[in-house]
Parts: sequence; C-alpha cells; structure tokens
Amino acid sequence: MPKHFLMCRPDYFTVEYAINPWMHPEAGADRDVAVRQWEGLKAAYEELGHEVSLIDPIEGLPDMVFAANGALVVGGSVYGARFAYPQRGPEGPAYLRWFAERGYPVHGPLHVNEGEGDFLTLDEVILAGTGFRTDLTAHQEAQEWLGRPVVSLTLVDPRFYHLDTALFPLDGRNVAYYPEAFSEGSRKVLRAMFPDAVLASAEDAEVLGLNAVSDGRNVIINAEASNLQLELKRRGYEVIPVELSELRKAGGGPKCCTLEIRGEN
Ligand code: ARG
Repeated sequence: MPKHFLMCRPDYFTVEYAINPWMHPEAGADRDVAVRQWEGLKAAYEELGHEVSLIDPIEGLPDMVFAANGALVVGGSVYGARFAYPQRGPEGPAYLRWFAERGYPVHGPLHVNEGEGDFLTLDEVILAGTGFRTDLTAHQEAQEWLGRPVVSLTLVDPRFYHLDTALFPLDGRNVAYYPEAFSEGSRKVLRAMFPDAVLASAEDAEVLGLNAVSDGRNVIINAEASNLQLELKRRGYEVIPVELSELRKAGGGPKCCTLEIRGEN
C-alpha cells in the first residue's frame, strides 16, 4: 500500500541553538550536504511508489525540516503540534495551516506535543512518548480528537528525547525499539504488547537507527545502523539504508523528516 508523506526541504537548515544533546551550534552543519542527503531520502520514498507532498520551508525555522514534529494525522484528521521550546513554536501553526488550507479537519492543540515525534500510530492503538517534549495531557487530547486508544510510554534518556528516536512501527502490529530508552514500567508494557518486537542495541540507537520508516515491507533506515539492518533482513524486510549524517547533527534521522498523512479508514 503506497503511503503519503509530507516533507520540508532543509533550505534554511542550521544548528544554531541546542535543544537536545545531539546539537552543537559551535560545530555547525553543512546545509548543502543536508539538502543533498534529504533529497536522497525523498527519492527513496518515490522509488518505492510512495507519494511525497512538500510544505514550504520558512526562513528562521532551521528545524522545520523535521516534518514528523509538525502534526499527527490519523483517519484523515489532524491533531496539531504545540512545541516545547520557543525556537520551534511557529512551526506548529505553519503545519496546521498547510492541512487546513487543503480541507483537512484540524484540531489546534491545547497541550504541548511534538506531533509524530512522540505519537506513533499502529492499527489499534497510538503509542505516545512523554518525559522530554510531549505532555501526558496531550496524550489524552490526541485520543479524544482521533478516537484511537493512546498508550503512554515514558522516555528516560535525553539522547532519545522523542519516541521516534527510540522506537518505530514495523507494520500496524509490531515494533522495533531500544529498551534502555524507556522507564522500567514502560519496558514492561512494551514487552507485554510486543513479545515479538525487534530489540535494538545501544550501537544502533546511538546512530538514530530507530528513527526509521517502514511500510510493512521496506525499511528506510540510517546507513550506520548495521546490527539492526541485519536483524531486519533476517526477519524478511527489505532494508534501504540512507545517509542523513548532516541532519543527525540536529538530532534527526529519516523518520524525523517524514510526516505520514493517513487518510480515512
Ligand atoms: N532539533 C530538533 C529538535 O530537537 C530535532 C527534531 C527531530 N525530530 C524527531 N521527530 N525526532 O526538536
């Protein structure tokens, strides 16, 4: 089944502030390299037959390339983002406007949440992260607006500040994750819900290997996450490695650059 993604070209990408441990403004980042790598990711989706829509980047919003944070779209309804840090604040309304202008029903959020960075959608439930960015109250708000049960998971390692840096859905029913990124209680929940999950090593997590996108058959994943790639192949997935090292300097990988637009049904 082809998917529909929203992406944002990193035309104004920089690392000029630090809101997560990956970001080092003094070291900077190369925008041209970032754009080239991002284009590789977009091409990989299109080669697989997925549709990519684009939102115009806004000058002065260097993290806007991380489209996953812009909203959560389930069943054709859009739950908007409300960013934890003021540096990214204007991105929430910008993404919400994109959807509103195209006729999607949108919900302007009352509670702090960073879209698909902290909400990962499965067939029956939505997994939601909290601990660094998204407030627990936003989990309830998303559940009310989208009508799908939300399962809250607590993140404990600041390097894995969004749920999508520590876990990704393999399909609508199973996930891959890095257990150490979660609280003891949340690990128990994950073990109970996903006895068959792919467990990632620290090495894979430290190159943002869990920040991957699966369409149920193909997995687009950071090139450096070699153990995880082997395990995915062993499980029968087609692995498509992408090089996004420049965007990792802001703490992002393939999934961060990708907002899935889920239609009705
Ligand atoms: N620099 C961005 C931030 O810290 C990176 C966001 C990455 N996005 C994601 N979905 N994990 O907010």
